[in-house]
Amino acid sequence: MNMLTKFFYYRPFADLTLCHFLKKRLTLPNLLLEEYFDNFDTHPVTLHQLPKGAWSTPLADVIMLLKIAVCSQAKKLMEVGSFRGYTALYLAQHVSPDAKIVTVDRYPEHGEAYRNTQYAHRIERRVGETSPEIFQQDSPGSYDFIFLDADHSYEAVKHDTELLLPLISPNGFLVWHDYANWGYFDGKNGVPEYLKELSERLPIAHVIGSDLAVYSPAWSREQKHLYEKAIVQKLHHTQIDAWTTASLRG
Ligand SMILES: C[S@@+](CC[C@H](N)C(=O)[O-])C[C@H]1O[C@@H](n2cnc3c(N)ncnc32)[C@H](O)[C@@H]1O
Repeated sequence: MNMLTKFFYYRPFADLTLCHFLKKRLTLPNLLLEEYFDNFDTHPVTLHQLPKGAWSTPLADVIMLLKIAVCSQAKKLMEVGSFRGYTALYLAQHVSPDAKIVTVDRYPEHGEAYRNTQYAHRIERRVGETSPEIFQQDSPGSYDFIFLDADHSYEAVKHDTELLLPLISPNGFLVWHDYANWGYFDGKNGVPEYLKELSERLPIAHVIGSDLAVYSPAWSREQKHLYEKAIVQKLHHTQIDAWTTASLRG
């Protein structure tokens, strides 16, 4: 870590303040999920327990994730960087009872939210670093849904994405967390920079209303028209009439 990165690393407020000036950081096209999935609005999301802990995924992002998993009828799912396990628990509660979920985290005790619950037998908990070894039992193209939410530095996101891309099924979804404008100066969040690069060769979009970015291999092929139909221009709140707009609060 160089001196400047170190300075910002211990001063997150300074990083956030300066990031405010990086207007061109988030350049991915914006995807409206309700335009993409026919049944998006009809699937309920029910949360009993709220997520605990500062690292848990914020609720708006959880809802989008659950809707993607449910609307796409995902049967094999993985969460990389699972923390206390609330998102994995919610996934297990929403996808079909025969769906399987794999969680990966370096912290040995991860998954408190679902351990010793009726959902635990559907969740395979793997402890360790993201590495070729931890995914070696996974066949190429075998996951319908992967949520990557581990280390967000540029190098780590690149490393993890390269391991996970081959595992996505032809109609599956890879979802990244923290496609958001923070962590540029302290090096904690390189998700926007890495995805900008990757989007030069793959169709990747920001999910409007969240800090998620998403990719499906089908968007280069048979679902290309659906993807294109769901890409919309994101307007700043000062450009729209709050009473009449159909767009989500961004
Ligand atoms: C932001 S939290 C994940 C939050 C979780 N997805 C949720 O929805 O509650 C990031 C997690 O990634 C784990 N992690 C970070 N880098 C990792 C790595 N290289 N290998 C495995 N786990 C990692 C951390 O231990 C931490 O629990």
